[in-house]
Amino acid sequence: MRKILVFDTTLRDGEQTPGVNLNAAEKVEIARSLERLGVDLIEAGFPVASPGDFAAVAEVARAVKDCSVVALARALPKDIAEAAAALRDAVSPVIHTFIATSDIHIQYKLRSTKEKVLEQAVEAVKLARNYTDRVEFSAEDATRSDPEFLRQIFAAVIAAGATTINIPDTVGYTTPGEFAQLITYLRENTPGMDQVTISVHCHNDLGLAVANSLAAIEAGATQVECTINGLGERAGNAALEEIVMALVTRGQYYQAETGINTRQIAFTSRLVSSLTGINVQPNKAIVGKNAFAHESGIHQDGMLKNRLTYEIMTPESVGLTQSRLVLGKHSGRHAFKAHLEEMGYTLTAEELERAYGRFIELADKKKEVTDRDIQALIEDETQKVEETYSLEYLHVSSGNSTVPTATVIIKHGDQLIQEASCGDGPVDAVYHAIERATGIQVYLDSWSIEATTGGKDALGEVTARIIKDGRQFTGRGSSTDIIVASAKAFLRALNRSLQVQGETEPMKE
Ligand code: KIV
Ligand code: ZN
Repeated sequence: MRKILVFDTTLRDGEQTPGVNLNAAEKVEIARSLERLGVDLIEAGFPVASPGDFAAVAEVARAVKDCSVVALARALPKDIAEAAAALRDAVSPVIHTFIATSDIHIQYKLRSTKEKVLEQAVEAVKLARNYTDRVEFSAEDATRSDPEFLRQIFAAVIAAGATTINIPDTVGYTTPGEFAQLITYLRENTPGMDQVTISVHCHNDLGLAVANSLAAIEAGATQVECTINGLGERAGNAALEEIVMALVTRGQYYQAETGINTRQIAFTSRLVSSLTGINVQPNKAIVGKNAFAHESGIHQDGMLKNRLTYEIMTPESVGLTQSRLVLGKHSGRHAFKAHLEEMGYTLTAEELERAYGRFIELADKKKEVTDRDIQALIEDETQKVEETYSLEYLHVSSGNSTVPTATVIIKHGDQLIQEASCGDGPVDAVYHAIERATGIQVYLDSWSIEATTGGKDALGEVTARIIKDGRQFTGRGSSTDIIVASAKAFLRALNRSLQVQGETEPMKE
């Protein structure tokens, strides 16, 4: 079996998903869960993009011990110096430098020439090697570049010290057969290519990101760049969980494996969804709600006779269990804490106290408390966004023959602000009342609700996305009362927007 390195870019390319803005504490939390998942490299951000991104990369570099931390840099001295500075405390740092190589990018975006691009790439790699032993070079838009030019630039950067060569399908344009041919051509014709890690980085514009990544592995790639839940620019990047489970399920065919602990997949997917506010579509492979659901009677019958009739992998193998929590409202803090640790959470004493209080409250209201409920509750209680405004009190009156009206009391520092408003529904009324209390007007871009489990007593989880000053911000809230969950989600999106006030939107690549 060949070992395939998993390079996770959820915190960099994944963060380029519209509406996603993670702060440093959230990036560290995701990085820790990626470390537990067993990825080989974590791309933590693009330090030159903004002071916030620099700080986040530096904090991830300090927190992560068991895998490499990567920082992105254009092929420019300033970017490379910033990347190196942000990685200063990393145990195993990697600078990832890139430049576009396709004619269309060179002519219109860079307004440069192939000769200058090659020279700039070589200088960038040499400079980066002064800071770190491992340097990755990416040829942006490689799949629309002249293969002969790719061969030349890769040979030159390898001679300059690049230790990984990345071949990105930046615009999701290639197809599996064509991509495999390109990888084979470059492997066979580029001097030094057998001495470096060959990486691929596929976008999903034609829905082929995972297929292209797997084709590249068959053709000899030894590293895949991917994101949890397939997050990323436009249609996203190749989904980590899909590539990994394809290699596990079809290991005999691919003769390749990764070091991923697949049982951590469901937890990590859920954490990323919660912190980014991007829901996973129900029919998403591996981590969607329906990925292991069997609807047809014939399938269900087959499954009862022998699971292998319709199941190519088990839900347990990706960490999906319907485990009913054995704890009840009489369980003590120690049992609760031990269960959380088993699930992958490490809470501060204060967070644990609050979460335990919420758990006891929930166990009083709900017949069965599942791990999924606990996960929603913990995420609700351990928000890493500063609570500039928080909900103190909420009263709503609504019905089919009354004007929906809401009264809120919002806490702001030591101040309690009371406001009331009508709306065309209870959520609308609450949102207007919150806007009055905070004095902040925003556009509600989207609102959605999901029940964490079945049953009429389920927790409702609301995701609200707002637009403020042209930027999108997402917040999530959960409660057995969906109006309370809605108010929390809206306030969290507002608080997130205040956190970046005054900062210009970070540069994205
Ligand atoms: O898609 C892309 O080309 C990138 C590079 C920076 C690797 O994200
Ligand atoms: Zn990309």
